[in-house]
Amino acid sequence: MTGQTGKYVGRLNNKVVLIVGGTSGIGYCIAEAALEHNAIVTVAGSNALKLERALSQLKSSYPSQTTGSQLRGVLIDLADAENLEANVQDVLRTAADGDKINHLIITAADMMPPPPPLAKITVHSLERTSTIRYTAPLIFAKYLPQFMDKDSGNSFTLTSGTHGHKPDPDWAPIAAYCGAVESMMKGLAIDLKPLRVNVVSPGAIMTEVVRDILGPHYDMAIQMAKEKSLVGGAGTPESVAQAYLYLMKDSFITGTVLETNGGMLLA
Ligand SMILES: NC(=O)c1ccc[n+]([C@@H]2O[C@H](COP(=O)([O-])OP(=O)(O)OC[C@H]3O[C@@H](n4cnc5c(N)ncnc54)[C@H](OP(=O)(O)O)[C@@H]3O)[C@@H](O)[C@H]2O)c1
Repeated sequence: MTGQTGKYVGRLNNKVVLIVGGTSGIGYCIAEAALEHNAIVTVAGSNALKLERALSQLKSSYPSQTTGSQLRGVLIDLADAENLEANVQDVLRTAADGDKINHLIITAADMMPPPPPLAKITVHSLERTSTIRYTAPLIFAKYLPQFMDKDSGNSFTLTSGTHGHKPDPDWAPIAAYCGAVESMMKGLAIDLKPLRVNVVSPGAIMTEVVRDILGPHYDMAIQMAKEKSLVGGAGTPESVAQAYLYLMKDSFITGTVLETNGGMLLA
């Protein structure tokens, strides 16, 4: 494909981008953004129907950018600890498709059901969340050098969240994983150098799953988000996708947490 040219807008032209968690929400919008930049995109998630739906929506939204093998999908259940190492290698291999990956982004997380209150957490629920949010990114990092050149033009971006810095009640386990991901990122930025490793930390973003979680409390949550933010509302996944784009494009940024939260920590 011809693609975009220019030293700014052409930065992702024909670059190979893997988005683990790209079948909905923030990850889906990153896939849209990457396709608009003429990248070669693979989205991964655990639910086959969601994956099919995401691929078909992306193809219908971007017909000229999704011809041939410009867009691929792959299934992986990050909670499957026993097979995680083999499955991660399969996903990386599929995305690389005989070539090398340029950018890996992980947005995947078990958003549904929402975290139980402290009194109701179980060892099993913590193991599952831990495997998805803590172990899986480390296993991706372990195998990444086989599928991505350690080059500062390439990047690995993880996802945390503002609740790691300002937890809501009953969010202690999730807050802990956000902190772990941010510290992990700093270690990986050193271990994988000069490959760049960063984190995006979103605030309240009105993705479909968040609407589902909020249910009848949605309007109240929007009102609270307005009061808690300096920009007058909750964020959109399209807006947060810009942060991931930036981290892919700026070959001088590494070891950084990019916060996109409407200023809620200052409000
Ligand atoms: N939305 C917010 O307000 C907000 C705020 C702060 C931080 N964040 C963080 O941003 C990220 C994305 O959030 P979102 O709102 O976009 O959520 P989302 O729409 O639910 O997206 C989550 C993605 O992860 C995938 N996923 C879930 N469990 C998986 C598993 N076991 N194995 C593989 N993939 C799995 C989902 O696909 P399948 O369901 O098919 O597996 C989906 O593609 C999360 O890390 C979240 O913690 C979000």
